Amino acid sequence: MSKGVKGFVRTHWCGDLTKGLVGKEVTLCGWVQSQRDHGGIIFIDLRDREGIVQTVFDSETSEKCRFAHKIHNQYCIAMRGKVEMRPPGSTNPHLKTGETEILVSDFEILSTSLSTPFLIEDDVKVGEDIRLRYRYLDLRRQKMQRNIIVRYEVVKAVRNFLDKQGFIEIETPILTKSTPEGARDYLVPSRVNPGKFYALPQSPQLFKQLLMVAGFERYFQIARCFRDEDLRADRQPEFTQIDMEMSFIGEDDIMEICEGLMKTIFKKTKGIDLTTPFKRISYLEAMERFGTDKPDMRFLLELKDITDIAKECRFKVFREVVEKGGVVKGINAKGCANFSRKDIDELEKEIAPFGAKGLAWIKIKENELGSPIIKFFSKQEIDNIISRLDGKVGDILFFVADKKDIVYSSLGNLRLSLANKLNLIKQNTYDFVWVLEFPLLEWDNEGRRHASVHHPFTSPIEKDMPLLDKEPSKVRSRAYDLTLNGVEIGGGSIRIHQPHLQKKIFEILKIGEKEAQEKFGFLLEALKYGAPPHGGIAFGLDRLVMEIISANSIRDTIAFPKTQRAVCMLTNAPDTVKKEQLRELKIKVMGDAGIEPTTSAV
Ligand code: AMO
Ligand code: AMP
Repeated sequence: MSKGVKGFVRTHWCGDLTKGLVGKEVTLCGWVQSQRDHGGIIFIDLRDREGIVQTVFDSETSEKCRFAHKIHNQYCIAMRGKVEMRPPGSTNPHLKTGETEILVSDFEILSTSLSTPFLIEDDVKVGEDIRLRYRYLDLRRQKMQRNIIVRYEVVKAVRNFLDKQGFIEIETPILTKSTPEGARDYLVPSRVNPGKFYALPQSPQLFKQLLMVAGFERYFQIARCFRDEDLRADRQPEFTQIDMEMSFIGEDDIMEICEGLMKTIFKKTKGIDLTTPFKRISYLEAMERFGTDKPDMRFLLELKDITDIAKECRFKVFREVVEKGGVVKGINAKGCANFSRKDIDELEKEIAPFGAKGLAWIKIKENELGSPIIKFFSKQEIDNIISRLDGKVGDILFFVADKKDIVYSSLGNLRLSLANKLNLIKQNTYDFVWVLEFPLLEWDNEGRRHASVHHPFTSPIEKDMPLLDKEPSKVRSRAYDLTLNGVEIGGGSIRIHQPHLQKKIFEILKIGEKEAQEKFGFLLEALKYGAPPHGGIAFGLDRLVMEIISANSIRDTIAFPKTQRAVCMLTNAPDTVKKEQLRELKIKVMGDAGIEPTTSAV
C-alpha cells in the first residue's frame, strides 16, 4: 500500500520552503489561498498548517499545468514541483517563504470548494456570528490556527513542567454532584434514576481534595468546567482549568510552583524570561490603592483618600456621604487640566453604571484653580487635597463620594479608562500580581446570610480565627489570586482539613447539618480519615491564552466556543428534544418550551 494520497506523499510543509531548499523536488498538500491567472502562467498561494508558499503552474514546462485553470480558491490540492528562487523584484519580505516559489510539475485536485462566506484571511471583515456558524472555515485562517496551536503549546508546557515537579494527572468525573463555585449548575437527568440529576462540575474542587486524602500528594488536571452564569468577554459556560492540588504545603510553596509554571509557559510560547517572584499585595491594599481585587499595576494612577478632609468641608454632597459612613477618594490625571467639559461629562457617564452619582473635579492651572466645587472648601482644605493627590500645575483631580464599594468600582474603572485614553499602559509587558488575604466571607443581602468569597473549603487565617463567631466579615482567608495585566487568571487557597472547622464554616454559612450532610457528607467523612494539610489553585487556561495571544475575546482561544447567550452557532446547541426522550427521562417541560414536535403517536 502506498502512503499519501493519489500518489502524492507530502515531503514538506509550505512554510518550510525557504531558500535552503532551492533545487529540491518537493510534494505539498494544502488549500488554495489565492490564485492569479497571467495567461499561460497561473500563480497559486498554497497554504497548509505551517504557512504559505507561492507556486507556479506554467503550461509551457508541464503538460499537466494546462488544467490549472480548474483550480479555485479554497480547493484542497496536492502537487509536486521544484523549489526555485523568485525572479529579482518579485520577492515578498513579509512572508517567510517570500524569496522562493515552487515550479509545479504535477498536481491533483483532492476536493473542490464552494465559494466561502468570507475570505480566509487574518483581517476578516464579517460579523462573529458568521465566523462561528462556519467555524471550520474561520479556523482555517492563519490567525486562528496560531491561537489554537499556542493553546496546545501552553498545555504541553504545563504537562511537562508539572510532571517534572512530581504531579500526577488524574481525571475526575464530569457526571457528578454540585460543586459550589458560586454559579448555577448545568444539570443532566439520569434515565436509570428517574427524577434524579447529575450536575456537571463547576470545578474538580471536591475530588481533588479527596485525592489528597487518598494520598496522591500532587495532582493536576487540564479540567473542563461548566458554569451557568452571565457571560462576558472573558467568560464561557464551558471552559478549561489548569487545576492543581498539593499536600503538606503552605501558600509560599504553591506560589513558587505557580511562578515556575508561568515562567515555563512564557518561555515556551513567547520566548520571554519572566522575573520572579511576582509582586504580592493584600486584597485590602489592592482595593484601597487601585479600587479592584485585580489591579493592573503596569501603571500607577492610584486612588487617594480624602475622607478626613471631606468630613469637615462645606460641600454638602461630600459631607453627607461621610456622615453616612461613606468615603471620598480621588485620582490625579496628570497633565490633563486641558480636558474640556465634554471630556469630563464623558468620563462621568462612563462611571455612572458603577453607581457613581457624580464626578467632582479640580483643574490646577498656572495661576488659578478651575472647579465647580472649590467654593465649598477653605484654602487650607484645598491645599491639603492637592498635596494628598500630589497635584501639580497642569493636572486635573477627580473625586467620587459614596459607599466604599461604589467609590472603589467607579474610580477603579475611571483609572482604567484614563490609562487607556492617556496611553499609560506599557505594551508587551506581562505584569503578574498575587493578591492575598481575601476576606473569607461576604454578606449576601438577598439571602440575609454570609457567603464564601472563594469557596466554603477555604481555610481562615489562623490569627483571625477568634473573630469567626463575633465578626465573621472581618476574618481573612488563606486564599490567593494570580492576576495578569489586571485579569484574574487563577485563584486558589489553603483548604480546611479539620472536620470540626469545616462543620463550623458550614454553620456560619447557614448550611444546616442535614443540607451539609446531603451535599458534602462524603467530604466531611473523608476529612475524618487522616486528611493531610493541603491546598491548591486553578488557572483559567482560556484566559491565560487570551493574554498570551493578546486576544480581545475568550472565544478566540477556543476551537468551538459558545456565544454570549451560551449557544453554539455551528451545531445550534442547546436544541429542543423529542417528546420520547423526555418521556424516557420522566421529564415534563413547562408549556411547549424545549419540545420538538414528534411524528410518532403521543
Ligand atoms: P475559581 O472559581 O476562581 O476557582 O476559578 C479559577 C479560574 O478559572 C477561570 N474561570 C473562568 N474562565 C472562563 N470562563 C469562566 N466562566 C470562568 N470561571 C472561572 C478564572 C479563575 O481564576 N476550585 C477553585 C480553584 C481552587 O480553589 O483551587 C476554582 O474553581 O481564570
Ligand atoms: P452638584 O452640586 O450636585 O451640581 O454637584 C457639583 C459637582 O459635584 C458636579 O461636578 C457633580 O458631578 C459632583 N458630584 C455630585 N455628587 C457627587 C458624588 N457623590 N461624588 C463625586 N462628585 C459628585
